[in-house]
Amino acid sequence: MKHLSQYFDRESQVILMQAVLEVVSLAPLFTPTMPRTGKPFSVRMTNCGSLGWVSDKTAGYRYQAAHPETGEAWPAIPQILLELWSKMSGYPGPPEACLINVYGPDAKMGLHRDEDENDFSAPVISVSLGDTARFRIGGPKRKDPTRSLDLVSGDVLLLDGESRLAYHGIDRIKPGTSDLPRGILDEAARINLTLRRVTLP
Ligand code: SIN
Ligand code: FE2
Repeated sequence: MKHLSQYFDRESQVILMQAVLEVVSLAPLFTPTMPRTGKPFSVRMTNCGSLGWVSDKTAGYRYQAAHPETGEAWPAIPQILLELWSKMSGYPGPPEACLINVYGPDAKMGLHRDEDENDFSAPVISVSLGDTARFRIGGPKRKDPTRSLDLVSGDVLLLDGESRLAYHGIDRIKPGTSDLPRGILDEAARINLTLRRVTLP
């Protein structure tokens, strides 16, 4: 795993936040639900890119080309994120999905692996905006030991090599730790952007 502390400076974080607001205005946030149980996630989500990650009770975790509520194609991935991917990924093709997770002050994300993609040779690259989060990462098995670290606004995390399929999650948000303007998402404590390649080139 590579943790690039404060990779994006304040000016770039503002540009990223504006790009998120534009995506959300075209592809509204939705609340995904767990496969089978239908239990709602505590984060809200949307996506940009040719494919977006969604989940619901009946069809489970998947990627699809259309927003689950509006039926519209997802907006394009912002240029600043395409540039991040081409600089950092070492992968001979663009990302297809950018999942946008919006955490309220009490939201969490349970330990999981990103394993709905067909090409694990591509890394997962994520960007943190807004309040600091306590991130936990372990190994390829759920029972492997874990360690945790803070992800701060502007940080970039690269999961590649052995860490690509490591279990990870968000234990908690530290509300009020960032003054980055969130615009109409002012109820949002933290925003995470996750770039992924889904299909083989
Ligand atoms: C995720 O694993 O999908 C999100 C991780 C994060 O919010 O940093
Ligand atoms: Fe993940």
